[in-house]
Amino acid sequence: MSLLGMFKGEGSTGFGFNSSAEEVTEGLDLSGKTYLLTGCNSGIGAETLRVLALRGATVIGAARTDAKAEAAVSSHRGALPVACELSEPDSVRACVEAVKALNKPLDGIIANAGIMALPERTVHHGYELQFLTNHIGHWILVTGLLDQLTDDGRVVMLSSEAHRWTVRGGIGFDNLDASKSYDGWRFYGQSKLANLLTAKELARRFEGTKKTANAVHPGVIVTNLGRHMGRGMNAAWAALGPLLFTKPIPQGAATHVYVAASPSMAESGQYWEDCNVGKPTRHGRDAALASRLWEETERIVAGL
Ligand SMILES: NC(=O)c1ccc[n+]([C@@H]2O[C@H](COP(=O)([O-])OP(=O)(O)OC[C@H]3O[C@@H](n4cnc5c(N)ncnc54)[C@H](OP(=O)(O)O)[C@@H]3O)[C@@H](O)[C@H]2O)c1
Repeated sequence: MSLLGMFKGEGSTGFGFNSSAEEVTEGLDLSGKTYLLTGCNSGIGAETLRVLALRGATVIGAARTDAKAEAAVSSHRGALPVACELSEPDSVRACVEAVKALNKPLDGIIANAGIMALPERTVHHGYELQFLTNHIGHWILVTGLLDQLTDDGRVVMLSSEAHRWTVRGGIGFDNLDASKSYDGWRFYGQSKLANLLTAKELARRFEGTKKTANAVHPGVIVTNLGRHMGRGMNAAWAALGPLLFTKPIPQGAATHVYVAASPSMAESGQYWEDCNVGKPTRHGRDAALASRLWEETERIVAGL
């Protein structure tokens, strides 16, 4: 257990920093439930796939390619592979159609895949790659499948505490291609704020229904996410993190698994951390910013 873990207790849900995905689903029978999960082949996504399948759920596991998705789901009973390259709108739209063709109502969509802190400005389809992958790709996927959600279906967006270190104004609408300025961490933060705001706006649109949308910070976990940080920083993170502040992968998957699957979870429009409701920044609480991002994203997606 890291030093931070020693000082963290449980919150009002009865779970906390040290709870694992298996613990938050203990005794749950998820047979008959279906979840779509992006990034199922690595890190906390792979653990999410394992634990949801262990509890009897059907997991539709999305990865960049068919081969990656097939390899990831192969050892989990009932899991189904789909390809979804989030930085390619056509691939995401094909994934939407593939999921619809399975004809399985979705009890949850877990938008988990992501990339972090690209050292160089990278632009694809006219947009900075972290914004395109983490936000726009997931936005196309989630909005394309809203009709597939069950009456009490849940959308869970993987955000991050990194939403605190975003660009000026929260979302730099006039610099989405990073042509005016670029910082890998701030653009990661912007994309994770966009994930958070998408959950917030979706929750507003779900009002009056039993559907929910929430955002999650999973904790800090040593995974492949650090691959772009540079060898030195990645090595330091991997060596010091487990001693000081990180969670192991089983605990890193707990919060979004709880939010996606626990019958005790009745919230919508919240930002979760350590399996409990947390408090995002003022940008993360800004309903007008959430609506504007949604509308701008609609416009962007129409052109992609
Ligand atoms: N780890 C942390 O400390 C931490 C903290 C806060 C938030 N998060 C969030 O948690 C989520 C999962 O991260 P992780 O730590 O498990 O990282 P990870 O091990 O690197 O997994 C990321 C997953 O996203 C997939 N992915 C990346 N780019 C993609 C694309 N263009 N299209 C489709 N899939 C793509 C990766 O596929 P490939 O393997 O094929 O690249 C992989 O399956 C991310 O959204 C991240 O922002 C993580």
